[in-house]
Amino acid sequence: MISSKSHVSEPMITEPQALFRFGSLTVAPSRRVLSCDGRPVIIGSRALEILIVLLERAGELVDKRTLMKRGWPSTVVEESNLRTQIAALRRVIDSVSQDIGVTGELIATVPGRGYRFCGSVAIVPESRPIRFNQRAGIPRRLNRVIGRDDAIRDISERLHTCRFVTVTGHGGVGKSTVALEVAEYAEHTYCEGTLYLDLSSASTPEDVSTSLTQAAGLASTTGDQLSGTIAAICSQEVLVVLDGCDHVAHSVALLAEAILQTYPKARVLATSRETLRAQGEHVCRLLPLTAPPIHVEPISARNASRYPAVELFVERLTSNMHDYALTDDDAPMVSTICRRLDGIPLALEFAAGRVDVFGIPGTLALLDDRCTLMSLGRPHGLERHRTLDALLGWSYDALTHQEQLALRRLGIFDAPFLLNAASFVIADASIAADDAYLIVAALVEKSLVTAEIMGPKLTYRLLDVTRAYARARLVETSELDSTKARLEVWLSRHGQEQGAAVPAQEDTRCAMRRCTGAGVSALQSPPAG
Ligand SMILES: Nc1ncnc2c1ncn2[C@@H]1O[C@H](COP(=O)(O)OP(=O)(O)OP(=O)(O)O)[C@@H](O)[C@H]1O
Ligand SMILES: [Mg+2]
Repeated sequence: MISSKSHVSEPMITEPQALFRFGSLTVAPSRRVLSCDGRPVIIGSRALEILIVLLERAGELVDKRTLMKRGWPSTVVEESNLRTQIAALRRVIDSVSQDIGVTGELIATVPGRGYRFCGSVAIVPESRPIRFNQRAGIPRRLNRVIGRDDAIRDISERLHTCRFVTVTGHGGVGKSTVALEVAEYAEHTYCEGTLYLDLSSASTPEDVSTSLTQAAGLASTTGDQLSGTIAAICSQEVLVVLDGCDHVAHSVALLAEAILQTYPKARVLATSRETLRAQGEHVCRLLPLTAPPIHVEPISARNASRYPAVELFVERLTSNMHDYALTDDDAPMVSTICRRLDGIPLALEFAAGRVDVFGIPGTLALLDDRCTLMSLGRPHGLERHRTLDALLGWSYDALTHQEQLALRRLGIFDAPFLLNAASFVIADASIAADDAYLIVAALVEKSLVTAEIMGPKLTYRLLDVTRAYARARLVETSELDSTKARLEVWLSRHGQEQGAAVPAQEDTRCAMRRCTGAGVSALQSPPAG
């Protein structure tokens, strides 16, 4: 049942608000937004307030005192501040709109007295039949968001132009966190309503429609009436946030297509570890937070703090240990912890929560043991966010049998690997080598395998936490020895096949250096030639 997870919001009928239109620009005073052809324009709050006063009394002289009182309601300021804001206002308008002439004439200075808006202004009602109570629908975040400014900006811009964006990425990487920030930005700029659905407990198409209906605060709807629900929600400029679509990707894809094809003002922002493969979907893959690379060590506290993974780790750590400050002694160890946890925010939060008991060196040591690593977590919050084991299990349990088998076997690689090595290690009597390629591709789509360009080659790798999980499953299913043996065979054959071709030999050595476990013996004696 998903109702417990859905955030129910009441639709409210609101009075239509007035909009001011001049040229291609529109000001919505109730939302404090200036837009140009529907796109939000960045403008300071004081400059916008002054513009609103001038528009309210378009054609009339507005004296300086009135403008200063509205711009700075609680402070007395010099006239020069007003001049600065008028100049900023003119600059912004000039930069975004070419169809309204010279702003010096549009906002005329009346020397010694004030300013007058001289353009032609249309006052139009804002059509807002339903306004969702956005704050009731969107969960509040308790912590500030670290290191995601670029992603938030990029997704907001894409959403504005493309209307349908799915944020994908590894479990716990921060997809929901980023989506909530984007929704907040949209709510303050171009959207009249934001509808938030937590779909992480949904497992059937019915769950998705029930969730939608409840989130919109409408009476329960089934089957054909779903289109009526969508119409009630989407006939306005609305952003529908579909969070945690992993287990209902197909139903969400159909829903998103239905919304976007029928309602040109609606936008959809989805989060999922896996792409939805829907028409019109633009995928934004969220990468882990950056951690100091290994070659930067020894690293000072000051330099380490510049990396968002370190910033997040230290911030969470200080919520338990108020007077902790990162020292030059701790910085290399903290950098290693952040790297070992692949910059995954949830994993960093788990590890930071152990420092008050184990200290920094002790916490780093915990990561060496696979079982301890997988049991890192916290006792509260979403069930899939309680331990690293649960985080990975959430993805693993939803895989097909063959994908599960492939992921386990890929756990044998300790570092980046080549596709043909992966295929060889995965394939057996039940999986043909060609199918193994497709399975690796599916695991990439599900954010469990990362594809990376390394020089001229595309290589693949499992993040450390994913590898620890896969390796644990491999041991559990007693496949460790047989998988090691397959890797050894591949290593020996691969070396022979490459013959004397120099670049290929380089690849072979690289591949060997990157393989451990079964590859160790072969690594120590790479084929001659
Ligand atoms: N950039 C960030 N700054 C601060 N905290 C973050 C950031 N990203 C994620 N977190 C924290 O990490 C945890 C996991 O984040 P989130 O729920 O957004 O991950 P997710 O990718 O949506 O996970 P899932 O795949 O399970 O849905 C949360 O506790 C969140 O507060
Ligand atoms: Mg999420």
